[in-house]
Amino acid sequence: MLAEMRTMLKSLNRIMHGLAAGDTVMVEDAARASGAKAALSPQLGKKLPAHFQDLERRVHQRFDQLADAVKSGTRDDVVKRMAALTGYCVTCHDTYRLDEAK
Ligand code: HEC
Repeated sequence: MLAEMRTMLKSLNRIMHGLAAGDTVMVEDAARASGAKAALSPQLGKKLPAHFQDLERRVHQRFDQLADAVKSGTRDDVVKRMAALTGYCVTCHDTYRLDEAK
C-alpha cells in the first residue's frame, strides 16, 4: 500500500512538472500511472474498511479522468482537477493510519 502511495506522490510531482513545462504528454502519462491500474490488489483491498476502499477507488478514477481531460481541457481545468484530486489524499490521511486499518 505504501508503494501505491509513493506512486501517487510521484504522479503529482510529474503532473506539476508537466504543467510548468506545458508538456501535456508528460501530464497525461503521469496521471495515467496512478489510474485504475495502480489500484490495490482486490485481495488486499478486501481487508480494508469499505470507506477506505471507496476513497481509494475514487482517487484512481480521478487520476484517469485527469489523464482523459489533458488533451481537451485547459491548464485551468487540470489545476482544478488537481485540487479536487488531492482532496482525497488529505481526507484519507486525516482519517486513517496503517495500524488502525489492520
Ligand atoms: C484511501 C486512503 C488514502 C488515499 C486516498 C491516499 N492515501 Fe496516502 N496513505 C494512506 C495511509 C493509510 C497511509 C499510511 C499513513 C500512516 O499510517 O502513517 C498513507 C501514506 C502515504 C505516504 C507515505 C508513503 C511511505 O512510503 O511511507 C505517501 C507519500 C502518500 N500516502 C501519498 C498520497 C498521495 C499523494 C495521495 C493522493 C494522490 C494519497 N496518498 C491518497 C491512505 C491514503
